Amino acid sequence: MSQATNQSWGGRFSEPTDAFVARFTASVTFDQRLARQDIQGSIAHATMLSRVGVLTGEERDAIINGLTEIQGEIERGEFNWSVPLEDVHMNIEARLTDKIGITGKKLHTGRSRNDQVATDIRLFMRDEIDVIEVELKRLREGMIELADREADTIMPGFTHLQTAQPVTFGHHLLAWQEMLARDHERLLDCRKRVNVLPLGAAALAGTTYPIDRHVTAELLGFDRPAENSLDAVSDRDFAIEFTSFASILMMHLSRMSEELVLWTSAQFDFIDLPDRFCTGSSIMPQKKNPDVPELVRGKTGRVYGHLMGLLTLMKSQPLAYNKDNQEDKEPLFDAVDTVRDCLKAFADMVPAIEPKKDSMYEAARRGFSTATDLADYLVRKGVAFRDAHEIVGQSVAYGLKTQKDLSEMSLEELQQFSSIIEQDVFDVLTLEGSVAARNHIGGTAPNQVRAAAQRAREALSLLQGQA
Ligand code: ARG
Repeated sequence: MSQATNQSWGGRFSEPTDAFVARFTASVTFDQRLARQDIQGSIAHATMLSRVGVLTGEERDAIINGLTEIQGEIERGEFNWSVPLEDVHMNIEARLTDKIGITGKKLHTGRSRNDQVATDIRLFMRDEIDVIEVELKRLREGMIELADREADTIMPGFTHLQTAQPVTFGHHLLAWQEMLARDHERLLDCRKRVNVLPLGAAALAGTTYPIDRHVTAELLGFDRPAENSLDAVSDRDFAIEFTSFASILMMHLSRMSEELVLWTSAQFDFIDLPDRFCTGSSIMPQKKNPDVPELVRGKTGRVYGHLMGLLTLMKSQPLAYNKDNQEDKEPLFDAVDTVRDCLKAFADMVPAIEPKKDSMYEAARRGFSTATDLADYLVRKGVAFRDAHEIVGQSVAYGLKTQKDLSEMSLEELQQFSSIIEQDVFDVLTLEGSVAARNHIGGTAPNQVRAAAQRAREALSLLQGQA
């Protein structure tokens, strides 16, 4: 074998790889992040090979001990990653052979880097999904508790970002929570399709050794071996599914961020975020900026980009493995890191939101947010809804002219627009009356919000049971 040619596949080559091509095709600078999963997969593979008689017990033990030592070297930062050895798989295998000699070369029996890398990524994704799930749960819990505490806090609800009807802050928070509940389900659903074992597919067609893929699947905690070897080495739709979950989640976090940014402004003045989640300006001494939600909103873009990147990566690939697939890792790693960090930031920040209740209340009082309640009142007294709409429209026009909210007008003033109006109208024109009247499942009434928070807690604990 030529000295400068790659030791793992150099046999048929007559000249060394071009130095630039070696760097261009290498992935070790980024895929070394899969080292732990690579070793975990190799230990399971060697264990299975010894059970079916392809390796002796001694060979298996030498391999497992060698790999365990290598794991320690990597963790202590002592491992010397080599670009000429291309990727994480060949780096670890070469080191194993350094350490234990010829037996190290037997590890790759009945396996290919194609099924190896697919296995490593799935193990990695499964680990990361479980970490992300912990943060997502923590965020949902914090949101539900804040919603429960703020079940009576009144704020304006908006459509078109114009004051529409009063709602409770707790109700608004539970709207966010519902988005996250669906994201949580999507994450767990994605996990099911991640948790399938490619190993045993070898390069693409399977292997001639008497392997037992059920054993390997069980050792690695996979639900089952992948059905088809061609699909097993080439499928990356689990990665697309994850980034699609991640994109939808980021879209939700970005919507929440946008509201947090608006609410902390002097113009809205609905909430305060503790100083530890904000930063100042180097030129304007008065500034306190909501950097954390702004950055989460900004990071949404890169996650959408990774989804597009992965979809495009896969769209023209013929079966089975193609080198294109090496490009799946960086977008996945970045999507995982971004989502995990954004969830952590939100899980820490949301319970610390300080609502400015007076300011929210005052904003709800302005903007005729109980106009619909007045119309519903007239309808209950026998007026047709269209006529009621007209009567209330005239009352609002009068309020705009006189700078009075509906609840600030006297009975006589209101009666100018309909003689049907009586003293009891003031029960529905108050903000408290307005929210309390929306007293049905999914409505904003404080007691409904408390009941919804309780149901959300129960739903969350049921979902945990499946994980
Ligand atoms: N580094 C490669 C990847 O990430 C590993 C598989 C390489 N397989 C091959 N036949 N060249 O996809």
